[in-house]
Amino acid sequence: MMEMHSLLRRAGVVAGFLAGLGQAAPSCHAAHNRACWSRGFDINTNYELSKPSGVARSYNWVLEEFTNWTAPDGEVKDSAMLINGLYPGPTITADWGDTVSVTVTNKLAFNGTSIHWHGLRQLNANLQDGTNGITDCPIPPGGSKTYTFTLTQYGTTWYHSHFSSQYANGIFGAIQINGPSSANYDIDLGVYPINDFYLASAEEIVKASQLGASGPISANVLFNGTNVNPSGNGGAYSTINLTPGKTHLLRLRQSLPGDRQRAHVLITADQEPGNYWMNVTMPAENKCGVSDNPFPAAIVHYTSVADGIPTEAGTVPPNLGCQDSLLYEPIVSQAADPATFEQTEDNTVVMISVSTPTVHWVINGSSIDNSTARVDWGKPVIDYVLSENTSYPASENLITIDEKDVWTYWVIESTSTGPHPMHLHGHDFLVLGTSAPNAGFFTAANIPSLNFTNPTRRDVTMTPPKGWNVLAFKADNPGAWLFHCHIAWHASNGLALSFLERASELKTQITPTQKKAYADNCAAWNSYWDSQMVVSQIDSGLKVRGLELEGR
Ligand SMILES: *[C@@H]1O[C@H](CO)[C@@H](O)[C@H](O)[C@H]1NC(C)=O
Ligand SMILES: *[C@@H]1O[C@H](CO)[C@@H](O)[C@H](O)[C@H]1NC(C)=O
Ligand SMILES: *[C@@H]1O[C@H](CO)[C@@H](O)[C@H](O)[C@H]1NC(C)=O
Ligand SMILES: *[C@@H]1O[C@H](CO)[C@@H](O)[C@H](O)[C@H]1NC(C)=O
Ligand SMILES: *[C@@H]1O[C@H](CO)[C@@H](O)[C@H](O)[C@H]1NC(C)=O
Ligand SMILES: *[C@@H]1O[C@H](CO)[C@@H](O)[C@H](O)[C@H]1NC(C)=O
Ligand SMILES: *[C@@H]1O[C@H](CO)[C@@H](O)[C@H](O)[C@H]1NC(C)=O
Ligand SMILES: *[C@@H]1O[C@H](CO)[C@@H](O)[C@H](O)[C@H]1NC(C)=O
Repeated sequence: MMEMHSLLRRAGVVAGFLAGLGQAAPSCHAAHNRACWSRGFDINTNYELSKPSGVARSYNWVLEEFTNWTAPDGEVKDSAMLINGLYPGPTITADWGDTVSVTVTNKLAFNGTSIHWHGLRQLNANLQDGTNGITDCPIPPGGSKTYTFTLTQYGTTWYHSHFSSQYANGIFGAIQINGPSSANYDIDLGVYPINDFYLASAEEIVKASQLGASGPISANVLFNGTNVNPSGNGGAYSTINLTPGKTHLLRLRQSLPGDRQRAHVLITADQEPGNYWMNVTMPAENKCGVSDNPFPAAIVHYTSVADGIPTEAGTVPPNLGCQDSLLYEPIVSQAADPATFEQTEDNTVVMISVSTPTVHWVINGSSIDNSTARVDWGKPVIDYVLSENTSYPASENLITIDEKDVWTYWVIESTSTGPHPMHLHGHDFLVLGTSAPNAGFFTAANIPSLNFTNPTRRDVTMTPPKGWNVLAFKADNPGAWLFHCHIAWHASNGLALSFLERASELKTQITPTQKKAYADNCAAWNSYWDSQMVVSQIDSGLKVRGLELEGR
């Protein structure tokens, strides 16, 4: 098979105040020198503090509903929701430092929408985060909204709808941000999404989960948007073409229940030329996802030989219970301070599943989705920030952070029998520690096992079944930032809370123009919602990509 080097350069991050430094310069980014990007910017640049200057790029997207839509694998889905008619949606390709504007026009029949740019920190730009009910109202049918944000990070990530579990109906796509790399390669193969695919609509899956159904079985797993149909009636394998002797960069972006990370992987084509399988394996006993396609795969093809179906099955990898590897060491180092860590009631959250009256999740004693309280699409957290109203509804499940630039520590404890990929908006967090499955709650005896010195940094990590994580992030980005399980129907059913970070500074960051755009969109949404008689809110309102991907 091929050699794969894990690169780990995740989308990183931020800040923006050194814009003047980034004079357009002759690029030093070449096959033998990928660590360099442009004058003054390379793999060691602290992207949370500086970024090169870039160009403006704009996109126009139209969201529409399609009935009896034929998927790339030949299956017919009753209803799909697509951006510009594409599945997955259009890829945003840009360079580190560029500013992207996306105008989203909602032509869906009944649904609102909001688009979240997963993994982008949105430093000092909370209103661009696209989390309806938190940072904006949904864009109503017939409405449109322009998101504008600067790419302070680089790497590979994705975007998706955050309106209920809508993203599982097809509203998602990739973001490729070119930048320096920690290892050299010859050929950039581009973004390579791997996601699960369902025939049932997202609404049907959510409703079934509320009635206690176990996790849905996907109809297929798609590689780069395609696969053969497991029932043998259509579709085509994705084929990754390798040039013999060359090293290729593959920008993997997974959104499978058991794996929601992105990773840059290098493949050197130094094996016997031929056709090989690349497989996704889903050990059912670990709740890492189940599919009607028992052996989802794509073909890795050496261009020097004829196309063909691989003949060797390959080797089943060890079963890691879909836990994250915590062995990735970031190049731009960050360390928290062990002396400032303590576990208290105020930084501990416990996730539990409750089954009455319908199945929903409770996090630290309160839920953003029960039969009487849900996130209010028409009055997002930003309304409270702008009016300095601190009577936050319990249904927003807010945790406030007021102190500036301090490390904050969060002990996440789970009583669930399944693993949960927990995702944070607005920050990359340090994973100070993660227990083994079934280890029980965190105790003082676990403190010595925590790693404060440049541990793995992520925006999604797996909370183990009946176990814990300890996460840390610095309060350096004012905003209302959702923290949630990325399995769509879990977020739909309440497995989410929001950090409201430095609310008074957040208020001062919002310009009059932004405030007006926000208010106009909310007025349009509220007018639509109050007048329509067709649909009702069945869940928390927060999507979460649930049915799919993101990273490990
Ligand atoms: C979709 O397919 C179903 C079943 O074949 C059919 O009854 C229905 O009319 C189709 N709808 C549209 C809009 O074509
Ligand atoms: C979203 O759209 C679907 C398909 O049209 C519809 O069944 C559902 O009720 C809508 N949900 C909301 C909350 O608008
Ligand atoms: C993924 O699909 C796109 C669109 O069809 C194609 O241009 C690209 O080459 C494919 N990527 C790989 C690695 O095969
Ligand atoms: C990889 O996928 C192919 C095609 O479905 C299958 O025949 C093969 O057994 C799989 N190999 C492994 C190790 O899962
Ligand atoms: C902390 O985590 C990093 C990244 O995995 C690792 O390189 C380092 O050795 C760890 N330090 C300790 C003390 O475990
Ligand atoms: C969790 O709930 C308890 C009891 O209401 C409260 O004292 C504590 O501050 C909450 N923890 C967080 C992290 O909000
Ligand atoms: C503050 O928010 C609460 C909950 O939405 C609302 O009932 C109350 O009227 C608001 N207070 C003011 C002064 O607007
Ligand atoms: C639902 O949430 C509200 C607000 O937090 C709370 O008052 C109510 O008791 C909850 N109801 C149930 C059934 O959990």
